[in-house]
Amino acid sequence: MTAIETPALLLHLDVVEANMGSGLHVFLKVDCGYHRAGVDPASAYALAVARELGAERGLVFDGILSHSGHAYRTCGKDEAAAVAEEERSVMTGFAERLRSEGLPVREVSVGSTPAMAAVRDLAGVTEARPGNYLFYDRTMVLIGCCAPADVGVTVLATVVSHQPGSTQLIVDAGALELSKDLGPGHLGLPVNFGEVKGHAGLLVTSVSQEHGVIRAAAPLDAELTVGTQVEIVPNHSCLTVAHFDEYHVMRQGREVDRWSIERGR
Ligand SMILES: Cc1ncc(COP(=O)(O)O)c(C=O)c1O
Repeated sequence: MTAIETPALLLHLDVVEANMGSGLHVFLKVDCGYHRAGVDPASAYALAVARELGAERGLVFDGILSHSGHAYRTCGKDEAAAVAEEERSVMTGFAERLRSEGLPVREVSVGSTPAMAAVRDLAGVTEARPGNYLFYDRTMVLIGCCAPADVGVTVLATVVSHQPGSTQLIVDAGALELSKDLGPGHLGLPVNFGEVKGHAGLLVTSVSQEHGVIRAAAPLDAELTVGTQVEIVPNHSCLTVAHFDEYHVMRQGREVDRWSIERGR
């Protein structure tokens, strides 16, 4: 029969490969104008990579994927809608190019929160992948892609230092809670690491690891004494949430539950 000495354990790879099912499903990432990652859809390289993915044994080429992160650099929904349309047009155009070369493209996956908040046409797109839209944040408000009331997470902080007559106070929320994200730099706004809810004149002017420095134009009112709690709308809710272990779940201003945050990487 064979030259294998017995007893021996035989693994029939062709059978196992067939049993493994449909293989590893892959998408090709495309640069739709953000210029962070992805192949240039006009390049010969993009076509070559797609061909290779389609031909690779064990891989199933599902389609193409983009992230329109440059929609965060806009002012208002019209501009964000233009980025969404640019993304749609780049992606559907590239999908057509691949199809005309004989490569089936089942999925055309796009998205970022501002683009998807403003998008007017998704013809030819099969999947939209906004992430931040669930919570939004101060950045989304400032670029005009959501209203302040749409923001679903805030950081509750306590005033831990304040001198009478001072224009400065310290809270127990710093970079670990608010992150060092300064929000949309292209708007030319003063430095502010978060919006102190209900206190329009206050700015979180700096953060160290566990403390935030809040300043006002005039001496701070007597309400903000040591021990007072304030709610701060984060500039980037994704970074903020990633730093906490649990949500205090609020309904109509009352805590109704606590949910732990899975932070596996
Ligand atoms: C590849 C990719 N898709 C989707 C998203 C979601 O973007 P957003 O949170 O802006 O909706 C991100 C966020 O960085 C991303 O990198």
